[in-house]
Amino acid sequence: MTDAVAHLHVCITCRAGLPLEPGGVPMGADLYAALAACAEGAPVVLRGVECLAMCAHGCSAAISMPGKWSYLLGGLRPAMAGDLMDYARSYVASGSGTIMPSRRAASLRDMIVGRVPAFDAGMGEAAE
Ligand code: FES
Repeated sequence: MTDAVAHLHVCITCRAGLPLEPGGVPMGADLYAALAACAEGAPVVLRGVECLAMCAHGCSAAISMPGKWSYLLGGLRPAMAGDLMDYARSYVASGSGTIMPSRRAASLRDMIVGRVPAFDAGMGEAAE
């Protein structure tokens, strides 16, 4: 058992290009709620944020952890919450944070929009 946790920031204002009725709930908020519903016991700190500047890729999220690549995730939907939480578990268990597409659920194969090196390590080009 490890105390290591990943931080998963979820844009709660994403509309995924869909119109939003007055008083309606953005799909990003639905994604956040779906993730919260399956986060119990997961090594994840879930945080809602207003816009990750990836609006063209909504719904969007970002996963990060000290010493690992941070990943920008796009094209997400509430129905992917369970797969995304499994991905987060794999991310925490990995050495560098890199989870190859073949090791992700099929729904998440194309979700990576970008990545950022760890702040505290010279990870450069040495990815898993
Ligand atoms: S509104 Fe979700 S990334 Fe901008």
